[in-house]
Amino acid sequence: MKNLENIESEATKDISAAQNMADLESSRVKHLGRKSKLSLFLRGLKKLAKDEKKTMGQLANDIRNRLELEIKKREIELKEKEISEKIDKERIDITRPGEKVEIGHLHPLTRVFRETKEIFGSLGFYIVDGPELETEYYNFDALNIPASHPSRELMDTFWLRQPSAISHQPSAKLLLRTHTSPMQIRFMEKHTPPFRIIVPGRVFRHEATDAGHEIQFHQLEGLMVSTDTSFTNLKGILEYFFKKFFSATGGKDIDVRFVPSYFPFTEPSVEVLIKWGDKRFEVAGAGMVHQNVFRAVGYTPWQWQGFAFGMGIDRLAMIKYRINDIRLFYGGDLRFLKQF
Ligand code: DAH
Repeated sequence: MKNLENIESEATKDISAAQNMADLESSRVKHLGRKSKLSLFLRGLKKLAKDEKKTMGQLANDIRNRLELEIKKREIELKEKEISEKIDKERIDITRPGEKVEIGHLHPLTRVFRETKEIFGSLGFYIVDGPELETEYYNFDALNIPASHPSRELMDTFWLRQPSAISHQPSAKLLLRTHTSPMQIRFMEKHTPPFRIIVPGRVFRHEATDAGHEIQFHQLEGLMVSTDTSFTNLKGILEYFFKKFFSATGGKDIDVRFVPSYFPFTEPSVEVLIKWGDKRFEVAGAGMVHQNVFRAVGYTPWQWQGFAFGMGIDRLAMIKYRINDIRLFYGGDLRFLKQF
């Protein structure tokens, strides 16, 4: 009996000391398995006298039952412990400072385009897109810039090799558009006034690059035509636009000036300057649409009048964000882009 008591207390201690399921299983094998002291004891019972066999057998079986119960109890405890440890380990500490997620953002030119579209959109202008690959006719001839015209030389043009199918048609010669003005022609060929449109887009010029010049840049063309659109309308709308565009950066103090100039497709023509502090920036060309342009699209001369303008989007972005080199827009340098 003394022996049995020892077996039980040793096993109980062992079971309750198990720290995980593997420990528990090995103490089960050790104390209840086929080679355990208890099993050996039970097997040895047959050597005893009948009476003794009964009491001892009863005792040993009670011990076996109690130990099995202990193992079950410990198993439940260990499982609970395991779960609560897991919960503790996986708990999210909402007081910890977060990790910054890096997301992209809009390119400064995209932002400027969006702002300009929004302002002109609020004034009722439709947004129209056009091709970057143009013909000589749309880029020059129809805009009252004949082949002999000196202003063609001012626009350093990227000419394309001619597909043989059109080589007999001189005005179909292909080029990368040097300005967004050809869309004036394309739009008017298909629409009758009154209308007001803007044409945002990329243009190309074959020139040496420096801080102020790129071989590609962006323009926003404007065109408004009706029976009585006037130069006053042009001034009012451009003045409104520039004040609004620069409003977050002190636009009220901006002075918009119109200086006489020359473009073949407008008459009269102006250059638009803004004066900001003691600095002046040339921001657009503009004027009243030349009647020859209306003739080119088949309108009856003098039936319509309208204004047109073309502004440099890169220029506007450079002024607004105080960027001193146009090439930064196209370099893809994150140190630059991340500032916006
Ligand atoms: N197309 C001209 C340029 O790229 C800008 C321009 C001037 C556009 C006068 C116009 C305009 O519509 O009326 O230099």
